[in-house]
Amino acid sequence: MQPSSEGLVELRTLRDVRGNLTFIESGQDLSFAIERVYFLHSVPEGSERGGHAHKELKQLLVAVCGSFDVILNDGTVTKTIRLSDPSKGLLIESMVWRELKNFTDQAVCLVLASEQYDEADYFRNYDEFLIAVKD
Ligand code: TYD
Repeated sequence: MQPSSEGLVELRTLRDVRGNLTFIESGQDLSFAIERVYFLHSVPEGSERGGHAHKELKQLLVAVCGSFDVILNDGTVTKTIRLSDPSKGLLIESMVWRELKNFTDQAVCLVLASEQYDEADYFRNYDEFLIAVKD
């Protein structure tokens, strides 16, 4: 799996007249073992998610339905990626501040994560994140 410069990973997808089938396997499509799966859904118009970074956690985000913006900030560079294609995943490494916004109606954000939930792994304060990332 080689992410593009934007962090986008082309997911293996079988396409035929019956529809598309996309699959993700640890070790082949992902550099980490999947420890947790969660998904954001029924996100109200105008709602924003994220607003944090992780010390160790790595994640792959997939817009399995609809679309939304992911704003990534590594402490130096900020970039915005609009996810809209279920056959592409966005790899977010550790120590990257992320915000998710501009969800379309019925959008679903699937997240494959390298660790189980641990609040101690979060930076929820941007200034604290900036200090840590520049260290
Ligand atoms: P958070 O990661 O801040 O979600 P978002 O960035 O989408 O707003 O988590 C929101 C709340 O949900 C927080 O109280 C922790 C809880 N949570 C879990 O209990 N388990 C999980 O796997 C996740 C992702 C969150």
